[in-house]
Amino acid sequence: MRTIAVMNQKGGVGKTTTAVNVSAALAASGAKVALIDLDPQAHATLHFGVTFEAEFPSVYDVLVNDEPLSAVRRQVAENLWLIPAHLDLAAADFELSSVFGREMILRDKIAADDMQFDYLIVDCPPSLGVLTLNALSAVEEVFIPLQPHFLALHGLSKLLQTIELVSKRLNSKLRVSGVVLCMFEGRTSLAKEVAGDVRAFMTSERGAESPWSDAVVFETKIRRNVRLAEAPSFGQSIFDYDPRSNGAEDYGALVEEIVAMRPRGGV
Ligand SMILES: Nc1ncnc2c1ncn2[C@@H]1O[C@H](COP(=O)(O)OP(=O)(O)OP(=O)(O)O)[C@@H](O)[C@H]1O
Ligand SMILES: [Mg+2]
Repeated sequence: MRTIAVMNQKGGVGKTTTAVNVSAALAASGAKVALIDLDPQAHATLHFGVTFEAEFPSVYDVLVNDEPLSAVRRQVAENLWLIPAHLDLAAADFELSSVFGREMILRDKIAADDMQFDYLIVDCPPSLGVLTLNALSAVEEVFIPLQPHFLALHGLSKLLQTIELVSKRLNSKLRVSGVVLCMFEGRTSLAKEVAGDVRAFMTSERGAESPWSDAVVFETKIRRNVRLAEAPSFGQSIFDYDPRSNGAEDYGALVEEIVAMRPRGGV
């Protein structure tokens, strides 16, 4: 199973759009996929049109009330299961503050799970709190969506510091495997410049002893496409909402790259 957290502490960079549409495309290709919504905003949950009856448990109950993943997940498409979030997840940070090993809860729940998946994808919130730490402790790969504007690299270094700490203290298997350029506007020179800078930075880190030394900047850039922004209100992935859109084309191409990545280390 490949386990991937889609993470960036900066808000609105394309995490959820990437997590949802990558999950949908992988599932459509025949892989068995679990998507964990670890954001109290519950945007990934809403994106699949999952509406919430108050009594139905969510990922909050997995983290705080010791529910198993099986009690929470629901199938949202062929081959695709969602572990939904609800606004109450916002309280988890506080409620877990005195719990020993609180960063490891999700990892243990995944290890104890009885269902086998090919991909487990976690949509992280825009913060570096206990929810994101749970995601980083539970996965082996991180995808970082970046919106190419001039502070993008600045935020990236902060994020990489966090990943380095987690890899040293909580999860030695953690690696950044890919950077996804989202909301790309190829006609602007700024976008091209930032994309070039990100590539140059990642290339300069090759061979270093860091969790991102093998990271790629995906060739596929996700272009800005209004259809991607519209799809969530219809509770559909871009492939159901508008399969002919640039958004569907770009996420389709990205998933081809993801599937073709060679597994690390062979362990
Ligand atoms: N390529 C794109 N083209 C146009 N709109 C996009 C694109 N990608 C994402 N959006 C829209 O931009 C907004 C932010 O995207 P998204 O929710 O994926 O970011 P996020 O990083 O998950 O945000 P948050 O940090 O709040 O969780 C959403 O309204 C989304 O529909
Ligand atoms: Mg999001």
